[in-house]
Order: sequence, then C-alpha cells, then structure tokens
Amino acid sequence: MHFPSLPPTVVLQLTLVSVLQGAKWSYDGPEGQQYWHKHYPYCGGAFQSPIDIESELLRFDPSLRPVEVQNYNLAPYEQLTLGNNGHSLQLSLPSKMYISSLRHRYTAAQLHFHWGSTSQPTGSEHMVNSKQHAAELHVVHYNSDKYPNISKAVDKSDGLAVLGVFIEIGAFNPAFETFLKFINGVKYRDQKVLVPGFNIRTLLPARLDEYYRYDGSLTTPPCYPSVLWTVFRNSVTVSQKQFQSIATALYSTSAQDSAPVSLHNNYREPQPADSRVVLMSFKEGRGLHGTLTVTSPLTRKQIIQQLLVGDLADLADEGLYKLLPRGVQKLQAGRRKDLRNWQSETLTKPKQQTLSPPLWKKSQANHYAGKLGLAEDSLSYASLEQRVFHRLKQSHSEKDLVQALRDAVYPELNLKSYLDCKSDLALPTIRHILRGRPTDEALELDRSLTRALGNQKKTSAAVKPSAPLTKHGSQFSANVPRKPPSQGHPHPWLLPMEWED
Ligand SMILES: *[C@@H]1O[C@H](CO)[C@@H](O)[C@H](O)[C@H]1NC(C)=O
Ligand SMILES: [Zn+2]
Repeated sequence: MHFPSLPPTVVLQLTLVSVLQGAKWSYDGPEGQQYWHKHYPYCGGAFQSPIDIESELLRFDPSLRPVEVQNYNLAPYEQLTLGNNGHSLQLSLPSKMYISSLRHRYTAAQLHFHWGSTSQPTGSEHMVNSKQHAAELHVVHYNSDKYPNISKAVDKSDGLAVLGVFIEIGAFNPAFETFLKFINGVKYRDQKVLVPGFNIRTLLPARLDEYYRYDGSLTTPPCYPSVLWTVFRNSVTVSQKQFQSIATALYSTSAQDSAPVSLHNNYREPQPADSRVVLMSFKEGRGLHGTLTVTSPLTRKQIIQQLLVGDLADLADEGLYKLLPRGVQKLQAGRRKDLRNWQSETLTKPKQQTLSPPLWKKSQANHYAGKLGLAEDSLSYASLEQRVFHRLKQSHSEKDLVQALRDAVYPELNLKSYLDCKSDLALPTIRHILRGRPTDEALELDRSLTRALGNQKKTSAAVKPSAPLTKHGSQFSANVPRKPPSQGHPHPWLLPMEWED
C-alpha cells in the first residue's frame, strides 16, 4: 500500500504535529524505513503492513464471499493520469469504480506498484510463507459510505480497502502494456501523462474468490492502520521485458536533479503479526491451520460481554480457554485438564457474586456497546496523534510518542479486529477491558491468564508449530504492567474523551 498522492495541504492536516511536517522518506539510507517512525510514529505502531502470510496465521473463513468489483471496464476515452511520485508508478482511477462485496462501498482512487530490481526481482511487499514475488500491485479504495474523499478516509480505522496482487515474471501481459508503453513519459519524479482507459479488471487474477484477508496499514508513511487488506492467492505475470521496463525506466528524483537516483526496491519489510490472524477464503490442503475455522462473531461478543459485566471468576476458571489464542486450544486440546489443574492451585477465593454490575462500568460498557452492537464507530488517527503528542509534551517525554500511540491504539484495534474474527484476543486488550472491574476478580483472572500464556509459551517452544505462540508471547511480556490494574485510577487513555472528537 502506498499513499503518495496527497497535496501538501493535506499532508499538513494528516500530520498536525509540528515535528512531522513534510518529512522526506525513502526505502533505505538516512530516511529509510527503519527511521520512518521518527517522523511518522504510526510506522512503529500496531497492525502494520505488509506481513509475511505464514501458515500459522491462517484461518479458513467460509463466510468470505468472492471479491466483486464494479465499473472496472473503462473506455479508451476515459483518460487516466499515469504519474511518477518519486516512490512509485501510479495510475489514477475514476470514482465510478468500486468494490461492492464488502460491508461498505469502497470507491477506487488509484493503483500503484512495488517492485524489486533487475538483479534481484523480488519486490512484492506481502509474502506467503516467506516467499517474495517479483512485484505487487495495489488497487487503493476508500470507504465512500462514510467519508467524502480519500484524504478524509486515510486516517480512519475503517477508511481504506486495498486489493493486493502478486506479480511474477512469466508470460507477456497485454493489460500491463496499455500503460507501460507510456512509462518513458514519467521517468522523473512529479511527471505525469494521460493514458487511455482500459479494463482494469484485466490487471487482477482470473479468480477473485481465492484471497487472504487481514487488518493492516498503509505500507508507506504515515503508516496509519486504516486498511482492510485483500491479497489474492493467485498471481499475474508480466514478461521479463515488461518487468525490466518498470525496474529500470524510473527515477525517484526530479528531472532537474543533477544526481539522478534510480527508483527500484520500493517495498517495505514484513511487519509483526501483533496477534492478528489472516483469514482465507479458500481451504488449503489438510494442514492444521488451513482447516481451522474461525469462532463465530456471536461467541466473541459473548466473551467480551463476560469480560465487561459477567462472572470473572468463572472466566478465570472453566472459561479461561476462551481467552487464549484460537488454534492454541486445538493444539492444547489434550492439555486442558493439566491447565485447569495447575491453575486451580492459585484459585483460593470462592466465586464472587456479580448480581448487579457496579456503577463505574456504565461508561466503559457504553464505550464498547457500539463495537458489540457492530455500530460503525472508527478511530481517527491524526487527531489521536495530536492529543497524545500534546499530553506527552506536557510531561516532557516526546520521545515516547511511538510507544504511547501504540499502547493507545493497540487494544482498540485488537478488540475491533477480534470481534470481526481477524485477531486473537491479546492480553493488553483483556487488561484494558478489565481495568474497571473489581480488583480482586480482575486480578485473579489476570494471574490465571498470564500463567496460562506463560505455560503455553513454554509448551509451544517444544511443540511445533510454534511461531504464533512465540510472537504472542513476546508481545504479551512486553506489555505486562508494573502495577496491577486498580479501580479509581484507570489508565489515562481509558478516559471517555480520549476517543471522541
Ligand atoms: C475532502 O473532503 C473534505 C470534507 O468535505 C474537504 O474539506 C476537503 O477539501 C476534501 N479534500 C479533497 C482533496 O478533495
Ligand atoms: Zn502500495
């Protein structure tokens, strides 16, 4: 995903924090991707893209319908702007094109590419089991049911939907030729040419029913986690010659620049999974993960409701497995008895009565009510960044902006994604929800959970496949609070004003 087409005024709006304005970035060197977070704190945050789509992250979701696109077949007189923005080759798309198979209408804005180099033709952003393709096409759409244009949508948690297509070197691709033949008109940064419209559908693979789906981000600064990703299983091909023309024709510098820099290897490295799972619309082989099916949204909603207002002692005991990463339960099926046994050692308290939810819970319950009712609330990243920045400034700790934003956004994103079956429930999220519950109940659940996860981490180190557990494990331990949660002193970002504009 690439989001290069913002006019300067919009960039100012997106990065209201003064230190961030207009910061240059590139793929390597002093402004390279390992430094993006310094000027664009979300790049160091949660739910980033691309990812390596490993088998261990996969869950089959039979409810995923084939992708449907509308008005992709453009006539030659419908001219498109082909441009070089210094980071990618981009083609503007008319707003009559849209995706019709998602919860909202997502209107097309542009498409662009990421690629490797002639010596190393491996420049896709997403990977599947560590395999990187030659290049990747991104068709960028925004949620036009909720936002008037892409500038407004780009920093919203439900703002964008991107279709990702792997490109490999093979047969000549006539669809690509319709715009590649104009590539010499945009050799330098900021150059643009008009090209005739064509059937954009022919850039996509034949099968639109087989794809991976996950929650992620822009893969370029400002890296907002605002993208619903669809990465098609099947790739398309371009010829060696076509690949070479993309990989060698362009410069990231402008025509006036006396030191031209070639534009290639414009891909971001894979990012941490952050307790996300990748849904797949198709069933793959007989592997354990390919056949794991997601738990229903209703079950997930009930689990969150139990955390919010239900019997926590019961969750800490019989219900503990519900909170553990899905898939782990299956691997651990034979171990549940063990788990319960050692866990019961710590259960010294009798179950508590939870007849009426305490008063404090009201606001928090309301806060989540929208999500539980699948209401359409979204996070607004630019304004959150501004608020967090100002608060940190008051306490003279600007350097913690990246971590603070990550801590602020992670439980919200994880919860939203969990309820939508695209994440496992993570410990920081559970703790976030538990902050308002009676201390002894919540503390007990926290302890049981921490020990269960620690136990699973140990077990998983010995048992294959272990990758997701290790990932979850390290993330959990990084988020262990120094103090137990206490009533009356909620975490600052739980305050009601925090998420409201
Ligand atoms: C996007 O929409 C907002 C709100 O209607 C408007 O203020 C802004 O100018 C628009 N931006 C672009 C680039 O059209
Ligand atoms: Zn991109």
